Order: sequence, then C-alpha cells, then structure tokens
Amino acid sequence: MARKKIGLIGAGNIGGELANLAVTRQLGDVVLFDIPAKENFAKGKALDLEQASALTGADARVIGTSRWEDVAGADVLIVTAGIPRKPGQSRDDLVATNLPIIRDVADNAKKHCPDAFVIVISNPLDAMVYEFKRRTGAPREKVVGMAGVLDSARFALFLARATGASVKDVRAMVLGGHGDDMVPVLNYCTINGVPVRQLLGKDELAKIVDRTRKGGGEIVGLMGTSAYYAPAVSAIAMAEAYLGDQKRLLPAAAYLQGEYGYDDLYMGVPVVIGAGGVEKIVTVELDDEERAMLKKSADSVQKVVDIVKAAG
Ligand code: NAD
Ligand code: LAC
Repeated sequence: MARKKIGLIGAGNIGGELANLAVTRQLGDVVLFDIPAKENFAKGKALDLEQASALTGADARVIGTSRWEDVAGADVLIVTAGIPRKPGQSRDDLVATNLPIIRDVADNAKKHCPDAFVIVISNPLDAMVYEFKRRTGAPREKVVGMAGVLDSARFALFLARATGASVKDVRAMVLGGHGDDMVPVLNYCTINGVPVRQLLGKDELAKIVDRTRKGGGEIVGLMGTSAYYAPAVSAIAMAEAYLGDQKRLLPAAAYLQGEYGYDDLYMGVPVVIGAGGVEKIVTVELDDEERAMLKKSADSVQKVVDIVKAAG
C-alpha cells in the first residue's frame, strides 16, 4: 500500500518537529511547505531529516517546497503557518497577521488537498480553525484545531509533579478556547482513576489550574517564542488517531452546532478522532462552575471570531 502523504504547512519551529515525528513514527511521506522566501529553509530541513532516516531506518520521503502542487493530494495537513507570540503578547494579538495567512492556506488547501484531514495549530487557534473551515467549506469532521491535547498535557504534567505520580498515570482534560480562560476540568482529572481532589488540596489545585492556563505564556516568556516540542507531539497524536482509525477520545477544537449550547463556533471539547476525522463530539456533564467557565471562554473566542468575520 502506498505511503500516506503528510503536508506540513509551515516549516518553522513546530513544522520541523512535526516533520521529525512524522518521519520517525513513519506516518507517511512528508511535504514541508513554506513561503518562497523560506523554501530553501524547508528544503534544508527536509534533506536533514532524510539523512537522519538513514540512521532511524524510516523509509519516508521528505521534501521541502513552496509549491502547493507538491502538497497536492495530501491525506493530512497540519497547519502552523503564521507568527507565534512574543513576550507580552496574547494569542489574540496575532489575528491581524495570521488571518490573511490562514486565508491563503485555506484557499490553496481547498484547491490542492480538498480531501485532507486538516489539523490547524496557528494562533489564535479557535478563530484560525474557524476561518479555515469557513473559507474552505470543508465538513466539520475534516477540520479540527489542536490545543486541548497540548493544554491537557501541561495540566497532566503539573498534576504529576505535584502528586509525585508517573505522567503515565495522569488523565487530565482541558476544554474551552485556547486562551488564558481555558477550562481545566478538575472533575475529570484522575491519577489512575483516583480523583485529583482526593490527592491535592484546593489551593494547590488552584495554582496548577492557573499555571496550566498560562502555560503557553510561561514558555514564551522563557524562550521569546512559543513552545514547539509539546505542540508537535500533540498534533501528531491527532494525526495518528485519524490515520490509524484509533477512535481516540481527545480534547480538541471542534465545530459546534448546538453541542454544549454553542453554535457556529470552534472550541475545545472532547471528541473522538478516527478514520472519519472528528467522528463524534462527546457531551460530558459539567457542573455549574465548569459551565460558567466554559461560557467565559466561549465569549472570549467569539470576540476574536467576530473580528475575523468583520474582516470580510
Ligand atoms: P514559526 O515562526 O517558527 O513558523 C511559522 C512558519 O509559518 C514560518 O516558517 C513562516 O515562514 C511560515 N508561513 C508564514 N506564512 C505562510 C504561508 N502563507 N504558508 C505557509 N507557511 C507560512 O512559528 P511556530 O513556533 O512554528 O508557531 C506556528 C504557529 O503555531 C503560531 O501562530 C503559534 O502561535 C502557534 N502555536 C499554536 C499552539 C496551539 O496549541 N494551537 C501551540 C504553539 C504555537
Ligand atoms: C502559545 C501556544 C501555546 O501561544 O498557543 O504559546
């Protein structure tokens, strides 16, 4: 069977990590795409990755390009095109720069890869994935945003460190928009089935929730740019769920049509990802506090989506 084709739109920090993971985990052949001014940069990363495969034993082909024709027919697209945050910036501050970029990517993806499963990473995430779907007219099953897997991973790490548990035993879920009012859902967080509220006090949990919400900004403050290792692993997990029909239940930005009381909005909710893409949006019980937090987060997302819509 021919290898799958993975199109990585954006060959920057996350794009390079995505390519490395896609090759070493043998998801398929990889096309690292960037703008013409960065084509040689993409070609260099591709060549470097192919040379590494001589040692890792991965048989994937990797090319770097700025021609959408080279991406044509991709089975999966992972979109990181756009600028990341600088210290002091919010994700929403990126909308003016990244909106025309995501529109350019959407127009080309619609033309060259109409059947791809698309995972958008570019920020402000919920608005960018919304615009990608709106611009392409693709079905909601085939356009998803990566944020909840990353935010939940950050939450899980902090819970693991605070309890002394192995990260392998932590189950944590963060819902809502990918912003500072995201919703770490404590009621669904356990250490191998033990609710975290039985293991940590209220004050410590509150600190962990706060650090999770600001997890992206913490790294931007340290590195001067966004994280890229954990975001890349998060998106690859979603791509593997699709390519391998894994039926993974993961938090992801999905297009809501009435679920959780929201319509025509992308926001982080539990979804099942398999060969059909976002095969199911899972409605979980939320208590009053969680519902209120979700509403606050949805309002923040809507504000940025309204800016996107007003831009024509
Ligand atoms: P980066 O600057 O390293 O890479 C972005 C790449 O996009 C650059 O190489 C740039 O040339 C390219 N690009 C610009 N316009 C393009 C176009 N029209 N087509 C194709 N490529 C284009 O940035 P990064 O660190 O990889 O982050 C990428 C995006 O992901 C940023 O918006 C960042 O905020 C976001 N991000 C999101 C999450 C999340 O959880 N959703 C996590 C981390 C970063
Ligand atoms: C950031 C990513 C995590 O902006 O969204 O830092």
